[in-house]
Amino acid sequence: MKKVKKRKLSYKKIARLFIPLVIVICLFIFRKNIIYFFQSKVTGYPYKTIEVFHELDVYDNVKKHEYSDTINKIVTTEYYNPKFVSNYLDIKYVDDNTFLNDINILLTLGYTTDDINNIYASLQKDSIQILTENDYLKDISNIIKLSYFHEDYLSRYLAYSKGKELSTEDLITYVNIGLDNKYYTNISKLTKLDDNLIIVNKYHSLPSDYVPNDLEAVSDKYNKGINNKLRHEARVAFEEMCEAALKDNIKIYSGSAYRSYNYQLNLYNRYVNQQGFDKAETFSARAGFSEHQTGLATDIMKANWDYISENDNEYTWLVNNSYKYGFNLRYPKNKEQITGYMYEEWHFRYLGKEVATYLHDNNLTYDEYVARN
Ligand code: DAL
Ligand code: ZN
Repeated sequence: MKKVKKRKLSYKKIARLFIPLVIVICLFIFRKNIIYFFQSKVTGYPYKTIEVFHELDVYDNVKKHEYSDTINKIVTTEYYNPKFVSNYLDIKYVDDNTFLNDINILLTLGYTTDDINNIYASLQKDSIQILTENDYLKDISNIIKLSYFHEDYLSRYLAYSKGKELSTEDLITYVNIGLDNKYYTNISKLTKLDDNLIIVNKYHSLPSDYVPNDLEAVSDKYNKGINNKLRHEARVAFEEMCEAALKDNIKIYSGSAYRSYNYQLNLYNRYVNQQGFDKAETFSARAGFSEHQTGLATDIMKANWDYISENDNEYTWLVNNSYKYGFNLRYPKNKEQITGYMYEEWHFRYLGKEVATYLHDNNLTYDEYVARN
């Protein structure tokens, strides 16, 4: 009896000794699986992905970030590039069949993680495709945010940006104006012809038979031309401006205001004959492309019948005051490429006080204004 009892006790002892040992051995053998299991629970990545993270030695980096579907999806594919681990962690996943390939291309081109998130948040698939097929477009995140960014012009912005050091605003503005096309190409035929805010330039044309229906002769007191006319609102504002100038001892006159299509045609042809095509193009509009045909523009003269120029008091007064009456210098200095015309100190355009003031305060031409609105 004594012997049997002794043997029972020793089994228990053995069990007590071995079971923990077996457990310890098992824990040791399966330690990785156990760790990965818990890491999967903590991070939210599938167990298999955790294994891959360890194989690639990126788990420590990954665990510091919030769960990322992008790294989860890419890490097990051929698209995974170890250079971009940190980027993948911050790029919001988009369920699209070329996403994983495209983000690699965009990252390689130089777009940042933020850029890529902004691109996917704002642009259509076709546009993203365009970005992947072109050189890096600087400041894309801000470009996209501009209210006057036109997504359908994306290829044009990309092409126009090449080799130019333009600000983001200017790049978008210039393409919106149409400056990536030669003057007098890609022309829009204007339709809302009686709008005070009509834009007439080398990309926007008036019909040959357009004559404003509210043309009025400028008062003789402020008229140096023969039969100079402006549209009613512009005529009233012009005379008010001349009155105000007079109070400051400045005498200004309308030298040439409304011009019909045919008048402009003859004028332009005359200039071409006299000065040659290239020169004429810098200061004379082709027929149908002149603001003078709108009845909203006038060239301003001094008392001696000369057109005003930069050094005249009349010019200084106009530059500082014309906007208060709704007029702007339409073809300013250093904006020749934008307007398509040389600096014309004498040509003023009626736009109404609000827009004229905005242009004055922001040093913008009307072409730029329209391109941003
Ligand atoms: N001189 C201006 C540009 C015109 O011909 O309309
Ligand atoms: Zn003019």
